[in-house]
Amino acid sequence: MNKNFYITTPIYYPSGKPHMGHAYSSIIADFFARIKRIQDSKVFFLTGTDEHGLKIQRAAEAKGMKPKDFCDEISKTFKNLSKVLNLSNTDFIRTTEERHSKSVINLWNILEKKNEIYLSKYSGWYSVSDEAFYSDNEVEDVDGVKKSNISGSLVEWVEEESFFFKLSKWQEPLLKYYEDNPKFILPESRKNEVISFVKSGLKDLSVSRKSFSWGIKVPSNKDHVIYVWLDALTNYLSALNYPDASSKLLKDFWPATLHLIGKDILRFHAVYWPAFLLAANIPLPERVYGHGWILSGEEKMSKSKGNILDPLEIIKKYGLDPLRYYLIKEVSFGNDGNISQDKLESCINSDLANNFGNLCQRVIAFNEKNLNLKIPDKIKFTDNDMKVLDIFKKDYEKIFKCIDDQDINSYMNFIVEQLFAANKYFNDEEPWKKKSDILRLNTIIYVAMELIRKITIMLYPVIPTSSLKVLNIFGIKENDIKFASIQNHETLQKGAKINKINILFNKIEKND
Ligand code: ME8
Ligand code: MG
Repeated sequence: MNKNFYITTPIYYPSGKPHMGHAYSSIIADFFARIKRIQDSKVFFLTGTDEHGLKIQRAAEAKGMKPKDFCDEISKTFKNLSKVLNLSNTDFIRTTEERHSKSVINLWNILEKKNEIYLSKYSGWYSVSDEAFYSDNEVEDVDGVKKSNISGSLVEWVEEESFFFKLSKWQEPLLKYYEDNPKFILPESRKNEVISFVKSGLKDLSVSRKSFSWGIKVPSNKDHVIYVWLDALTNYLSALNYPDASSKLLKDFWPATLHLIGKDILRFHAVYWPAFLLAANIPLPERVYGHGWILSGEEKMSKSKGNILDPLEIIKKYGLDPLRYYLIKEVSFGNDGNISQDKLESCINSDLANNFGNLCQRVIAFNEKNLNLKIPDKIKFTDNDMKVLDIFKKDYEKIFKCIDDQDINSYMNFIVEQLFAANKYFNDEEPWKKKSDILRLNTIIYVAMELIRKITIMLYPVIPTSSLKVLNIFGIKENDIKFASIQNHETLQKGAKINKINILFNKIEKND
């Protein structure tokens, strides 16, 4: 049995409807959850919504709604998106749930008891859009308005009584932790950003607000609400029933294996979160991966920029699996990626219709014509057959490692190479010319079907619905999928019947 695997997405602000950036993080997380499941790990996959704070309070006010009613409505659209994206999440957490506030209050009390929190006064810049405090040198004047030079968001001046967390005290322990755990922050370039930020000097962090009320109250002083990031980050623990020591979930899944986030919120996850945990003496997560941005044109896709591709519209037009495939394969994981409908259409045509779809269609159609939808019962592999099959065995450790390093790009390249290789194998072997050599004809069909099976298992975490349709030809059900079986070459039951297959992906007519 493999190690348990706990993966999280950010919990999204339900301040407006979900967009492609949210869909992206969720789809990538689902990819990892599904692959670890078929690698026989026990998986907990968490997503949800981040519902407190001034940003949400103002968004609700703008609609003339009570914050909770507003959140109920919009959180539903995020939950619905999880369904539409076919996410295999184990839980969906909302920070307005009682199970969550209980955990947050507990963590706060521990920090207070350990003398990690003190009352003082904050004066400085605050961005409501980022729910973040910025120092003077992180703020610039743009045409008379003050903006963060990190996120580009508007900032406002805040002066009020506030509780502070002794973040400065954790500067050296954090640096030591990064050094001792060189893969705690990935990708490498992001890690360097974080280290230089921490080295430049950490100031104590304001962790409560007094001038508004939409949040979890500080237990010892009800005039204050807990800073929304301290509240939100705790979701990763509250979903496991922290601090209930008898909780099986907590025992099985903490520390988290992977916090998957966008690079915009790296500081919160790679600096503040581990500092809170160190201070509370709670084990730290194994890894924080900050992926790049989905860009539309050259700009980050975001509500405030109004350049959003709506995932629901794209899915309605092209289907879910093409979108999943496109985001996972064509956006170089770790980097920013510029997406467009035009590129999505090209990807559907070349990879899904011409390469994968075509392979399945022609091999099964050929089987139907010559063997009447039966798996050959007598076969004999040649050296060349063994060579094309064996690559999945030879490279198995490498592929497995790609997943544990979040190297999605190499994983997808391997799949695409093997799709080409399988199509080439079928062309080069010319089974249609082997009708007088039944043993050879049978063997070629068998090898081609094994190749389809192996590749489709690898594609299952990417395009689960389409992959299940293909695996169903061979009678393989979702619960039977074993990643390790891609190393074996004679799994298809000889002499058994196979099912027919319908068109998997339609080619899109393009005017170029
Ligand atoms: O930050 N490209 O919520 P949020 C890629 N509530 N990913 C994108 C993206 C884009 N253009 N836009 C958004 C918050 N994302 C907090 C998180 S966690 C304890 C609290 C994804 O609704 C990406 O994962 O602003 C990013 O980090 C996240 O959505 C921010 O979502
Ligand atoms: Mg945001």
